[in-house]
Amino acid sequence: MSFNIAIDGPAGAGKSTIAKQVSAKLGYIYVDTGAMYRAMALFLIREGVSPEDQESVGKRSQDADISIKYENGEQVVLLNGENVNGLIRTEEVGNMASATSVNGDLRKKLVELQQKLAATENVVMDGRDIGTVVLPGAQLKVYLTASVEVRADRRYKELTEKGVDCDLEQIKADIRDRDHRDMTREVSPLKQAEDAVLVDSSDMTIQEVIDRILELAKERS
Ligand code: DC
Repeated sequence: MSFNIAIDGPAGAGKSTIAKQVSAKLGYIYVDTGAMYRAMALFLIREGVSPEDQESVGKRSQDADISIKYENGEQVVLLNGENVNGLIRTEEVGNMASATSVNGDLRKKLVELQQKLAATENVVMDGRDIGTVVLPGAQLKVYLTASVEVRADRRYKELTEKGVDCDLEQIKADIRDRDHRDMTREVSPLKQAEDAVLVDSSDMTIQEVIDRILELAKERS
């Protein structure tokens, strides 16, 4: 049987950085489920589907063939066979992913794919509903969070280092909006699974968080 680690939490908590390093350390496969919702969003943008038209979102999402493969340990997302890794990190795609991931039919399709992957491989999977819906039987569930202020500061630093002009108060407002949307949606809202370990990274370094998760994984294996 495969060993599965589920990491859920709000946007900007550091899930992907941490999940990537934990999986590399354990020799597990890292599955970034947000990238799958983003690839689906890109498909719907290309198809001209409006996020307000939920019926079309549900129907058209069934026409997208999303799969993942690994190249040099990196997850590559394929949309109808095309590598879309370089196209899914834009604000436009992120907003579309947030708006369309509320759709139950779209989620069902991606959840099935995620469950198939975890059934045969040892995985570290990150997202919003991994511990609650996708892998309810995961051997280790972590709910990784940090305060809005800390997440906004991290994002601000990241953007200014890239030379992007940005406003800290606006970033905070965006994070609050996104948290609210992810936590209050009807289908699979973001919430801590009952048996998940809460890790608040507000006052922890990345290495401290990684060490904590590795220690928990060791205890459970
Ligand atoms: O983690 P991310 O920013 O790449 O995720 C993009 C969007 O996809 C996010 O707004 C919420 C959604 N998502 C989801 O609903 N369920 C997941 N398991 C992962 C992401």
